[in-house]
Parts: sequence; structure tokens; C-alpha cells
Amino acid sequence: MSVKFLLDGDVVEIAPCDPTGTLLEYLRGPLRRTGTKEGCAEGDCGACTVLVGELAGDQVQWRAVNACIAFLPMLHGKALMTVESLARGGALNPLQACMAANGSSQCGFCTPGFVMSLHGRAIGALGSELPVADVIAGNLCRCTGYGPILEAGETVSRLVQDDSGLAQALAGLADDGSGTFEGRQWFAPRSSDALAAILADYPAARIVAGATDVGLWVTKGLRELDTVVFIWDVADLKAVDETPEGVRLGAGVRYAQA
Ligand SMILES: Cc1cc2nc3c(=O)[nH]c(=O)nc-3n(C[C@H](O)[C@H](O)[C@H](O)COP(=O)(O)OP(=O)(O)OC[C@H]3O[C@@H](n4cnc5c(N)ncnc54)[C@H](O)[C@@H]3O)c2cc1C
Ligand code: FES
Ligand code: FES
Repeated sequence: MSVKFLLDGDVVEIAPCDPTGTLLEYLRGPLRRTGTKEGCAEGDCGACTVLVGELAGDQVQWRAVNACIAFLPMLHGKALMTVESLARGGALNPLQACMAANGSSQCGFCTPGFVMSLHGRAIGALGSELPVADVIAGNLCRCTGYGPILEAGETVSRLVQDDSGLAQALAGLADDGSGTFEGRQWFAPRSSDALAAILADYPAARIVAGATDVGLWVTKGLRELDTVVFIWDVADLKAVDETPEGVRLGAGVRYAQA
């Protein structure tokens, strides 16, 4: 099977897919979307920030992701927006135009990452209720001193994006992913029963949740992983249950949701 995701509404299909190939490598290589930058390759600087959307009911829930440590199978069944997605017909979107006009960009290397974090906030991505400064806490800039970037985020704080067609398209992509690449297998199950069955068959498989640790084993440690199971999409691991005894967080609950 292949990895399939939507980029600006078009299906991108990768087959076979390297389970530990990073989204950043794929964007800058085969897709030639070089607006997304590599700064640190370890999730620190935010130069590689993109927006990943997934179906939540009949809506698309976006969130900012560091492409440098996101493995390609984590994109299976998702929607992707890069900085190239924003300008239409050669015209910058309002946030980009504001940042260009107010001096938010000097050398420019960090700018696409800031644009994507702030665009995410403006369209209601996960964590967008937070102050601008918190939303860009994962983006580093050596040049500007951050003042104009904060100002741009406050000035263009809401943008309307119609994702209704995208939500329908995503519904058609939702399935359990799996594949083989040069003898290495990967799985992206959607239920804990499917996950349990995979782990029974492959007890030595490496579980990957957010990949903010495992990602660095690959990008910095240059490790090769054999069988990999991605648990991002296991629905019953994403539950937050409040009980009289306390709050129970599933193993797939994200920090921003907890
Ligand atoms: C920029 C940056 C800053 C960081 N700052 C901190 C920090 O301040 N403090 C800190 O503690 N860490 C920090 N980390 C490290 C890392 O983010 C954390 O350890 C994080 O909790 C890892 O979660 P993850 O879901 O991304 O794990 P992954 O990278 O997906 O997995 C990490 C390990 O847990 C295993 N695993 C994952 N899910 C399961 C599961 N359900 N069952 C069994 N095993 C599982 C994996 O096999 C792997 O061994 C940072 C990382 C980055 C990139
Ligand atoms: S390149 Fe620095 S966070 Fe990805
Ligand atoms: S403008 Fe140079 S790093 Fe931000």
C-alpha cells in the first residue's frame, strides 16, 4: 500500500514509502516545495513548520507540525498546507503581505515557518486560542527581534478558509495504512484492536506517536528502524476521560489537547 495525502486538494501518493523518510526531505526533494526550510532538523527552530489537517467530525482540524521530524506515513489520510499553498494568483495572502510590509522578514530564512504558525492560528488550528507569542514559541528568528512578527500576528489574527470540500475528500482517504519499503514494514492503524493485532504479529515493532523523540534518532542518530507502527490515528488512544477518580489521558493525546 501507499501513503496518500492531500496537498492543496490534490492527492499525493508515495509508493513505496520509506517509513522513516521525513516530510521535509520529500517536500524539498521530489515535490520541490523549497519554501519549507531546514534549520536544525531536530524540531527546535520551526523553519520547517507546515500545517497538517485531519478530519474531526465533518470539519478539518489543522495543526502546526515540524516537517523535519515528521515521518511520511504520519501524513497518510491527512491534508497538508505548505507556505506555497497560501499565495493565490501570485498575490500574497493578508498575513504574508502584512509581514512583508512591516519588517517581519530580514534574511527571510525563518519567515515561512512563522507564516505557517501564524496562518494556523488565524484559521483556528489546534492551540489557536493561545496568545501570538505562545503560538510562535517554537519558531526562532536571529534577525528581527520578534516585534514586527508579533505585531503581524495580532493584526491578521483571523482568516476565513473554506475547508468543506477538503473534509469530504479526506473522508475518502481514511483507511488503515501499511506498506513495505526495502524489506522494512510500516503500519498506521486506526483502532486499538488493529494496533494490538499488529503488535501481536510484530512484537519488536517500534511504536511512534509524535516522533519528537524517534524523529531525532533518524535525523541526528542516522538510525534505521525496521518495523514501525504509527499510532497517531488510533482513535481510542486519543480520548480524554474525566472520572471521579481523576483524568485519564489516552497514549495518543497531544499536549495541546490535554
Ligand atoms: C524541540 C523539542 C523539545 C523537547 N523538549 C522536551 C522537554 O522539555 N522535556 C522532555 O521530557 N522531552 C522533551 N523533548 C523530547 C520529546 O518531545 C518528548 O520525549 C516527548 O514526550 C516524546 O513524545 P512523542 O509522542 O513524540 O514520542 P515518540 O518520539 O513518538 O516516541 C518516543 C518513545 O516512546 C515510545 N512510545 C511512544 N508511544 C508509545 C506507546 N503508546 N506505548 C509504548 N511506547 C511508546 C517510542 O517507541 C519511543 O521509544 C523535546 C523534543 C523536541 C524535539
Ligand atoms: S528544521 Fe528546525 S524545527 Fe525543523
Ligand atoms: S529574518 Fe533572519 S532569522 Fe528571522
